[in-house]
Amino acid sequence: PIMLTIDLSGRRALVTGSSSGLGEAIAMALSSAGARVAIHYRKERAAAAAVVARIVQQGGAAQAFQADISVIEEVSRLFTEVGAAFGGLDILVNNAGMDGGSANCADSDPGQWTRVIAVDLHGPYYCARQALQWMLPQKRGVIINITSVHEFIPWSGYSAYTSAKAGLSMFTKTLAQEVAASGVRVLAIAPGAIRTPINAGVWQDPQGLADLDQKIAMGRLGEPDEIGQVAAFLASDLAGYITGTSIAVDGGMLIYPEFRHGG
Ligand code: BGC
Repeated sequence: PIMLTIDLSGRRALVTGSSSGLGEAIAMALSSAGARVAIHYRKERAAAAAVVARIVQQGGAAQAFQADISVIEEVSRLFTEVGAAFGGLDILVNNAGMDGGSANCADSDPGQWTRVIAVDLHGPYYCARQALQWMLPQKRGVIINITSVHEFIPWSGYSAYTSAKAGLSMFTKTLAQEVAASGVRVLAIAPGAIRTPINAGVWQDPQGLADLDQKIAMGRLGEPDEIGQVAAFLASDLAGYITGTSIAVDGGMLIYPEFRHGG
C-alpha cells in the first residue's frame, strides 16, 4: 500500500520560543517532516543552539535567531534576519508565551498583566503580520497559533493568560477569514496539560500531579511530541482543507471529566 506521509520538504518554518518545551518539540517534528527550521529564543541562547545541534544531528537544517517578540522593532529585525537566511517563510508557529504567575485581579501587578498580553497576544500579531508579507504574494503559507485549553476554560489567578489565549483564538479565526482565499491557512492548537517547564512546579509535585490528572479524561499529562506531531500534520498539505479553527490536543480536558460520575 502507498503510505501517508507528512511531507514538509522544501518548506521553511519559524517556531517562536523553540529553545525548550512545546516549541522545541514542534521544531523537532517539523524538521523530522523535512522542513528547514528557524529556532527562535529570547534569552536561552545555549538551549537554542542545542536544539539546532539536535536537528543537524538527525540530518535536518536549522538556525537560531534571537528577539523579544513583544517588541515590534525586534520582530521586524527577526524577520529581516530569517529572510536573509531562508529567503522567505512557509510556516509560522506562534508558540512563545508565558503565564505570568498566579495573582487574582484585585492583587495583580498591572505591569505583569500587560507583559503577558504583550508576549502572548501582541507577539503573535507582530509575527503573523510580518509572515504574511511573504505568504500572501506566494499564495501559500500556514500560521499556527499555540493557544491553550484556557482559551475556553477560565483559570483563577491567570486572567491575563486566559484573556490573551481567548484573544489569540479569535485573532486566529479572523485572520483565517481574511486570508483564506489567498491560499494561507491560519489555525490554533489548544494544548491541555503537557509535560513542559511551564507547569513543572505542578507535575513534579505528587499532589499537584494527582489533582491535574483528575482534570484530564485520559488521566495523564500529554507529552510535548504529542503537540509536535499535530503541528507537523496541520502545517502539511494533508491538512489542506483545515483553517480558522482551534484543534484541542488535551487528552479530554474539555469534555468535563468530572461528569464521568453523578450529575
Ligand atoms: C498551562 C499549564 C496548564 C495547562 C492545563 C496550560 O495552558 O500553561 O500550566 O497545566 O494549561 O491547565
